[in-house]
Amino acid sequence: MTPVLEVGGIETFYGQSQVLFGVSLRVRPGEVLTLLGRNGAGKTTTLKSIMGLVQPRSGHIRYRGREIAGLPPHKISRRGIGYVPEDRIIFPDLTVWENLDVARRPPRRSVSEGVRWTEERVFDLFPQLRPLALRLGGTLSGGEQQMLAIARTLMGNPEFLLLDEPSEGLAPLVVQMLLEQLRKLKQTGLTILLSEQNLEFATRLSDRACVIVNGQIRYDGSMQELVANETLRRAFLAV
Ligand SMILES: Nc1ncnc2c1ncn2[C@@H]1O[C@H](COP(=O)(O)OP(=O)(O)OP(=O)(O)O)[C@@H](O)[C@H]1O
Ligand SMILES: [Mg+2]
Repeated sequence: MTPVLEVGGIETFYGQSQVLFGVSLRVRPGEVLTLLGRNGAGKTTTLKSIMGLVQPRSGHIRYRGREIAGLPPHKISRRGIGYVPEDRIIFPDLTVWENLDVARRPPRRSVSEGVRWTEERVFDLFPQLRPLALRLGGTLSGGEQQMLAIARTLMGNPEFLLLDEPSEGLAPLVVQMLLEQLRKLKQTGLTILLSEQNLEFATRLSDRACVIVNGQIRYDGSMQELVANETLRRAFLAV
């Protein structure tokens, strides 16, 4: 099966300091692949490299078979890749509705009418946002802002989604709610690359995982196997 995304041996630096050392991974159509790793392991840098927000010095990044490394972020976004950054940047002075409206972009030709995202459909997925439609983004709780950040990206009708640590800093009940919502999103067939530190959250959402340690992929395989193998978990994760 041709992967939706194929990252091959990327090396990414911030100035002189190398952060990614030959990172490779493949995301298959319709799957949620989780990139697991401790603080500072290189999860965000991997997602930023894919999105063109930092340019890898070497390696390749192929999206649907075409090279995207070296393209500016807006062109990568136009290919159909949506990005929800870890800092959940929403417009605090715009209402929830306006936050969604400004992100609206028609689907690419390959996306059928049936899966087109509208405010109505976004509110069906995140019902707690519906009564907040006229509230300013900046007044929302952390969980509501995370939902809005995801919802806003969906309004651009992405075919592939990069989600950076969506559960971070949220209360357990909110995390459960978000998990159910992301499971529903997965059922729409959207392909997702998720970065997480929360192993349980990742386990309930994805079948496959890659573990990144100090900028290198140290595990690439089934989520179940990783969870079952205590030695692996202790070696690579903070659990
Ligand atoms: N803009 C930057 N300039 C210099 N170094 C950076 C920059 N951003 C990240 N780093 C460093 O790169 C390494 C990887 O950081 P990255 O943010 O990719 O990790 P992460 O796995 O996403 O961590 P977290 O779980 O804390 O979000 C860390 O050592 C970090 O200090
Ligand atoms: Mg990060």
